[in-house]
Amino acid sequence: MGFIGSGYIGGTVARLAVEAGHRVVLSNSRGPETLADMAAELGPRASAATSGEAAAAGDIVVVTVPVKAFPHVPAVPLAGKTVIDTCNYGPERDGHIPELDNRSLTSSELLLRYIPAAMLVKAFNNIFFKHLRSLARPAAADRSYLPIAGDSPPAKAAVTEFIESIGYGVVDAGPLADSWRQATGTPVWGSPYGPYSDEEGRPADEDTIRAALAAATR
Ligand SMILES: NC(=O)c1ccc[n+]([C@@H]2O[C@H](COP(=O)([O-])OP(=O)(O)OC[C@H]3O[C@@H](n4cnc5c(N)ncnc54)[C@H](OP(=O)(O)O)[C@@H]3O)[C@@H](O)[C@H]2O)c1
Repeated sequence: MGFIGSGYIGGTVARLAVEAGHRVVLSNSRGPETLADMAAELGPRASAATSGEAAAAGDIVVVTVPVKAFPHVPAVPLAGKTVIDTCNYGPERDGHIPELDNRSLTSSELLLRYIPAAMLVKAFNNIFFKHLRSLARPAAADRSYLPIAGDSPPAKAAVTEFIESIGYGVVDAGPLADSWRQATGTPVWGSPYGPYSDEEGRPADEDTIRAALAAATR
C-alpha cells in the first residue's frame, strides 16, 4: 500500500493495514525524514519515501491529502493503478474551486483530472479517523460498513478485498459520478458511526449505510 499523505486519515488506514499484515510506504509534502518516527512506530512493514516513490511502490495507493494539493499528486506512477481517494472538499481549507462549488464535478472526478490513467475508488472519506481506528473488527460479526464509489469493477474488487482485510464491510455506492452521495454533509458522512464527541464510535451495519446513501439529496 502506498500513501500520498500520512496525516490523520492516511496514518489511520496505514496503521490498520500494517496490523492486517500489509506493507505500507508512507509519504507527505515535507519529505520522508519527517515520517521516520511514524514508520518506526508502525514497525518493519512500514517505510517512508517521497510521494512519487510511494505511488510507484503500492499495488493500491491511497491519496489522502487536502483537495488543494490534488495538482501535486504524481500522475505518472499512478497510471493503471488502483487508487483510493479519501478526500473531502472544504473551501475554508482548500479555497474555492468553481467546479466543486457549482457541483458540476465531484471531488473524486476532479482528482481524476490530475491522475487520468488511475483506477480511482472513493473510500474512507465518510468516517472520522478515530472511529475508523476503533470500529475495525477482525471477525465479520459486528462489522461496520463503508461506501465505495468508482468506475472500475476490478479496482472496486481490489479495494473491497483490502477494506475487508482491515476489518470493515463494503457497500457499493455506484460510479464516481455518484460519489456526491457520500460527500461532506450527506447522511452517510460521519453520523452513522456516532458523534465525534464519542471517540469509540458505534458500528454501522450494511442496511444503515445503504439507507443513508439512498437518503442523500443534491
Ligand atoms: N481527519 C478525518 O477524520 C478525515 C476523515 C475522512 C476524510 N478526510 C479527508 O482526507 C484527507 C486527509 O485528511 P487528514 O485529516 O488526514 O489531513 P491531515 O492530517 O492534514 O493530513 C494531510 C496529509 O497530506 C499531506 N500532503 C499535503 N500536501 C501534499 C502533497 N502535495 N504531497 C504529498 N502529501 C501531501 C500532508 O503532509 P504534510 O503534513 O507534510 O504537509 C499530510 O500528511 C482530506 O481531504 C480530508 O478532508 C479526513
